[in-house]
Amino acid sequence: MAESKKSATLTLDGKTYDLPVHSPTLGPDVLDIRKLYGEADVFTFDPGFTSTAACESAITYIDGDKGELLHRGYPIEQLAAHSSYVEVCYLLLYGELPTASQLADFKSRITRHTMVHEQMHNFFRGFRRDSHPMATMVGVVGAMSAFYHDSLDINDPWQREVAAIRMVAKLPTIAAMAYKYSVGQPFVYPKNALSYAGNFLHMCFAVPAEDYVVNPILEKAMDRIMMLHADHEQNASTSTVRLAGSSGANPFACIAAGIACLWGPAHGGANQACLEMLKEIGTVDRIPEFVAKAKDKNSGFRLMGFGHRVYKNFDPRATVMKESADEVLGLLGVDNNPLLQVAKELERIALSDDYFVSKKLYPNVDFYSGIILEAMGFPTSMFTPIFAISRTVGWISQWKEMIGEKNQKIGRPRQLYIGSPKRDYVDIRHR
Ligand code: CMC
Repeated sequence: MAESKKSATLTLDGKTYDLPVHSPTLGPDVLDIRKLYGEADVFTFDPGFTSTAACESAITYIDGDKGELLHRGYPIEQLAAHSSYVEVCYLLLYGELPTASQLADFKSRITRHTMVHEQMHNFFRGFRRDSHPMATMVGVVGAMSAFYHDSLDINDPWQREVAAIRMVAKLPTIAAMAYKYSVGQPFVYPKNALSYAGNFLHMCFAVPAEDYVVNPILEKAMDRIMMLHADHEQNASTSTVRLAGSSGANPFACIAAGIACLWGPAHGGANQACLEMLKEIGTVDRIPEFVAKAKDKNSGFRLMGFGHRVYKNFDPRATVMKESADEVLGLLGVDNNPLLQVAKELERIALSDDYFVSKKLYPNVDFYSGIILEAMGFPTSMFTPIFAISRTVGWISQWKEMIGEKNQKIGRPRQLYIGSPKRDYVDIRHR
């Protein structure tokens, strides 16, 4: 960390404390409170970490007011227009865009790790057929620690690298197997001649009884969905991966923890919840009823796919995803699909409604991704697993960054205790 040139002063009970202020390359200054507890015997209180930088990171930068998302400095719009998911994986993992030979080598390493240990097939068979694919993924990715013993040593940079490649390569296979298992079809092995996105579509939709040819439009759309979900700074699942990793847990266990966190409807589960909400609304005339419910604090209902903790202007991923949705639905000839009509009208009404405008609630990436995935033929239960495949590279990049830090410490937040003061045990006969 660079020497801080500024400082802030905190006055507490008549005593003053100097707090160093660090200036990042981009974004607001950061008050360094690390010594505060030791010197002043106070904690800071910040549930939900809305004002707390928990780490230094050089991977992703978000400016929520400008609606800006940069990976290693490159704007997401430029990456979406010119790059590919696998190239973005390289960028996130290694910090720079690859040369042609570096990219070819990386692709070949990813491709050669797409198969899972054959014994893992038995592991899948232990799940109920109606398990949610996210439940299966949490279990199977965690179980990778039991299959790949030669990449568990977090202190060995080579083993960390192998674990990273294994997870980026195998997550599509695992997600597709979870899907195939849930629909009672045989597992489809990876085909290394296909692209990363094309291979995933093939593993999901091919059956032994007939040929499946990957549609290049859908392949491109899938690549873009993956790219737009690849990393997103210190979000809940990434912070979970970092926290799990801070104890020295193995990388497969950490990513399984990230998948579990992603599953929630306020995070990655929002794409499934959003599509289910659009289906429940059903027709355009019912939108006002749902908008009114979302505005009613007592209803507990939120418009899924709207709002974001950081973006308070627009979600740049949503802009790209919306273009992709129009393109895919147009090309598939389903642009007058009733679900899409409901989505478009809901978007129009919410964007002009004072409640949503004043609270800066805009459609987020999940609002559009579900519509594309539905048009591709995925059941809603596969939406969050596809997010998990895509985010794996972000989790791994952040985990590797953390493990590589010299002064890395176990994550251990403190609390504002509001329970009973100390009291004496009362015998059961006298309670
Ligand atoms: N519908 C209706 N009202 C909302 C919504 C919504 N979707 N989102 C936020 N609000 C209101 C909320 O009631 C609160 O009102 P008030 O200030 O009057 O109490 C205000 O807006 C601020 O909400 P918050 O919960 O304090 O904001 P947050 O930053 O903690 O939550 C969020 C962010 C994404 C969890 C939330 O907007 C939400 O629940 N959205 C729906 C779920 C969703 O689409 N999640 C996907 C996020 S993008 C993909 C990802 O990162 O995984």
